Amino acid sequence: MTLPSVQDQEVSGKRVLVRADLDVPERADSRLEALVPTLKLLSQKGAEIILIGHRGRPEGKVVEELKLASVEERLRKIVGGVDFKVLENLRFDPGEEANDPEYAKTLAQNGDFYVNEAFANSHRAHASIVTLPKLLPHSAGLRFVQEVENLSRVLESPKKPTVAIVSGIKQDKVEMAKALSQKVDRVLVGGRLPEFFGDNTDSVRMQNGEKLMIANLIMDKEDITLNSIDRFKDEIAKAGTIILAGVLGKYEDAGHIQGTKEIFQAVADSSAYKIAGGGDTEAALTMFNLIDKFDWVSVGGGAMLEFLASGTLPGIEALKKRANVNIERR
Ligand code: 3PG
Repeated sequence: MTLPSVQDQEVSGKRVLVRADLDVPERADSRLEALVPTLKLLSQKGAEIILIGHRGRPEGKVVEELKLASVEERLRKIVGGVDFKVLENLRFDPGEEANDPEYAKTLAQNGDFYVNEAFANSHRAHASIVTLPKLLPHSAGLRFVQEVENLSRVLESPKKPTVAIVSGIKQDKVEMAKALSQKVDRVLVGGRLPEFFGDNTDSVRMQNGEKLMIANLIMDKEDITLNSIDRFKDEIAKAGTIILAGVLGKYEDAGHIQGTKEIFQAVADSSAYKIAGGGDTEAALTMFNLIDKFDWVSVGGGAMLEFLASGTLPGIEALKKRANVNIERR
C-alpha cells in the first residue's frame, strides 16, 4: 500500500492542519513522541503548524478535564523548538463524531493542507479523519506511513501460529476480537471484555470454533484468574507471532496488576515476532520496562486491531483519494 507521505509535500508558507493523536494516558508520552518527526519536518519545510485532535469521550460537550491545554504543555516540552498551535478538543463539538460535513468545512477553514498523523484514531469515520481530507490536499504523517508498513508485515507473512491478546475495557473491542479471530490462530480475551461475551462460567471458555479463548475474571472483575493466566501463558509459549492489544486488568492497582504483569512478561520473554499497541498497553509496557522487547509498538489500540482484521482503515481510505479543494477559504 503506497500512501502520499508528508515527506514529499511542498508546504512552505502553508497552514498545515495536523490531525494528531492527543488522546494520551497520563503516564505515557509515546503518542506525543511519535508526532515529533512529522512536526520537525513540517517546521523545516517552513509550514505553519496547527494541531487538531481529541481527548477522551466528552460526547459533544465541553468537559473541563478533557481540555487539551495539559497535553499541549507536555508536547511542547517533548518537541522542543518547533512552533505550533493547538485547536481545542474536537469532540467538544458533536459534529466531529457525527462526521458532519459542515463541521468539517469549518475545520478546513483553518488550513491549506491536511496531514493525518493520528493512526490511533483512523478507525473512526469522524469528520477530522475522513471528511477533512476530502476538502484539503493531504498526506499521511511519517509515523502513519511507518505504522502501515510495519503492521502490513504481520498481515503478509506471519510466523505461525499467530496469537492475539485482545483486552482492556472498551466494549467495541469485542467485535474486533471476533473479526480478528477469522485471521489469526488464537485470540486470548481478558480485561473487562469477558463480561460482554455472556455465558459466564467458572472457567476459561472457548468460542468461535475454538478460536477465542475467554478468560475467567476474579470476584471484583478487575483482573483475570490465576487459571486464566496459566492457560494464556501456554498459548503464548507456542506462538510464532504475537499481537498484544490491551491490559488484562486494572494494572494501576497493586492488587490487580498480576494478570497484566505476568502475561506481558510472558509475551516479552517469547521468541515470537511481537507487536503491541494501544495507549494503556504502552503505558503498562513502559511501567514494566518491556517496550524494547517488541518488534513494533503501534500508537493504535483499536485502530491496530481493525487494520489487522480488515487490512485497511477509514482514515487510510480517505488519504488514498484526491481532495475536492473548491471550498471557500478565509
Ligand atoms: C484511542 O485512544 O484508542 C483512540 O484515541 C480512539 O479513541 P476512541 O475509542 O474514544 O475513539
